[in-house]
Amino acid sequence: MLVRRAYIPESLRPRDFQEWPFTVPCVAELAEHGMTFDRPVTFLVGENGSGKSTLIEAFAEAYGLDARGGRAGRKYGNDRPKTLLGEVVRLESTADGARLRRASRQRQKGYFLRAETAFGFMEAVSGMRGYWDEDTSQMSHGEGFHTVFSAMFREPGLYLLDEPEAALSFTSCLRLVALIQQLGQSGAQVVCATHSPLLAATPGADIVEISEEGLRRTSWDKLELVDHWRRYLNNPNSYLRHIVDS
Ligand SMILES: Nc1ncnc2c1ncn2[C@@H]1O[C@H](COP(=O)(O)OP(=O)(O)O)[C@@H](O)[C@H]1O
Ligand SMILES: [Mg+2]
Repeated sequence: MLVRRAYIPESLRPRDFQEWPFTVPCVAELAEHGMTFDRPVTFLVGENGSGKSTLIEAFAEAYGLDARGGRAGRKYGNDRPKTLLGEVVRLESTADGARLRRASRQRQKGYFLRAETAFGFMEAVSGMRGYWDEDTSQMSHGEGFHTVFSAMFREPGLYLLDEPEAALSFTSCLRLVALIQQLGQSGAQVVCATHSPLLAATPGADIVEISEEGLRRTSWDKLELVDHWRRYLNNPNSYLRHIVDS
């Protein structure tokens, strides 16, 4: 594990929380109390608009990853301002994390995979040094994702994923679970926003539910998401009769 806590130093906290992103409950809670990472793998689960991407982008920037996605250890142009939250969030490192942070830029590992932009991004960097050799433009979304996973998700570093399941089949999701678990066991850290009950079931992972109430640690079988899927798969009609004409 590399990062034990995300927080906003008091001097960087706004006086009132009237403006975005501090109007988002999980961001307000992060600002007031911080957010701890208790295990190498953390899933953020919550409704659309609950603030998962806002948090993940800010963690990426606080770690030195670009909010647009991509790998660690890259040199950035200073042309682009950080997100509002990324400007003020700080990460508290573990001893291992601090050691890694002191290493050279080439040794910094980690990756921010944003499902929304990942495919365009993959095409843009295919063949570039420090990425992968395969031509992902000839691949399906899911195949491309696996190329990225096997090339980039290997050494201790911070791996941030924002709804990676978007492009993945059931079987591909299972492969990703295995990879995420291995990364966690090998000293890396993973923070993943997801709507997938399959991914959230990764053994040993911590689950943080994000809602109007803010941030709440929970277990897989208490997730509303899991309950909905279970009921839906048991009997789709129990949901569909409310929303489609028969
Ligand atoms: N740049 C922005 N300016 C203002 N509001 C934003 C911005 N980006 C996102 N939001 C709002 O912040 C909330 C959280 O968004 P987001 O983090 O993308 O949610 P999630 O990833 O959980 O679906 C949403 O209500 C969204 O509309
Ligand atoms: Mg999102």
